[in-house]
Amino acid sequence: MKPNTSYSSNYERMSGNCTRLVAAQMLQNLSPPITPSSYILDNACGPGIVSEQIKLLHPDAKIMATDWSPAMIEETQNRIEKEGWSNIQTGIEDVRDLKGLEDGTFSHAFTNLGMLVPGDDDSGVRITSALFRVLKVGGVALVSSWADRVWLNAFYNTARAIRPNEEPQKLMALMPEMMKASWLAAQLEDGRFGNNIEVKPCVTYTEAGSLDELVNNMLLAKQMFFSGFSDGEMENVKGIFKEELKKLRTFEEVEGGVRIEMKAWIGIGWKKGDELEVPV
Ligand SMILES: C[S@@+](CC[C@H](N)C(=O)[O-])C[C@H]1O[C@@H](n2cnc3c(N)ncnc32)[C@H](O)[C@@H]1O
Repeated sequence: MKPNTSYSSNYERMSGNCTRLVAAQMLQNLSPPITPSSYILDNACGPGIVSEQIKLLHPDAKIMATDWSPAMIEETQNRIEKEGWSNIQTGIEDVRDLKGLEDGTFSHAFTNLGMLVPGDDDSGVRITSALFRVLKVGGVALVSSWADRVWLNAFYNTARAIRPNEEPQKLMALMPEMMKASWLAAQLEDGRFGNNIEVKPCVTYTEAGSLDELVNNMLLAKQMFFSGFSDGEMENVKGIFKEELKKLRTFEEVEGGVRIEMKAWIGIGWKKGDELEVPV
């Protein structure tokens, strides 16, 4: 299928559909399914990517979309107005406590690629505990995390080519532990879901209409990798980065554009009400 690459914001250009494709897979074979009585949390919603995917399938679904970035909430609100979505509210919430949301409120709670709070590597269980708290008994939490981010190598190799004697800036680096399925499983188990959990792999892509477009979109994140580089050094970045993207193991040309495959994990936790039983 041709990639849809008409992106409406810098976030969308930078992510190139990679979070949207995960969101779409989170909604497949959802158990329990979304029904007219569902109340859904889109947690760490960014510009409302999960909400968008829900509204495509269930236009009347009742949604609360939250993020702690006012800029992201503004983007979500603009999107709500533009699309004319009804039955959706927004709010500022920290994923680590969701303190403005009451216990036992939601039938479904989605946290798509929002399990990592920058600068706080220990936030995982606090996030899943908060999700457990705000879910109704019978409700389900869907969370996702990265298994790899192949494209980071293109940034690192470009920085190394320009400054061979310097270690590349690694602001986006994650502890390898956090990219394992077992990490996501443990966050759900320890966040009170106990053994009512599942983790499955999911393939996604960052995509653009052409290689030049992909280069320009990804270089919107250049401050994370080339801060302090001189204008002269930055002039070389684009050409080298383009070649490095082509060398990536998962880079491919497809009809209508180019894409880089990535792998993510989707974790599911059901709040069943039997969590306090001691397993024997
Ligand atoms: C990778 S984006 C994912 C956005 C969206 N869920 C999607 O599917 O594209 C991560 C989001 O987490 C938000 N975020 C980071 N730390 C947060 C926190 N402590 N509480 C709430 N949101 C947070 C960011 O503002 C950003 O919108």
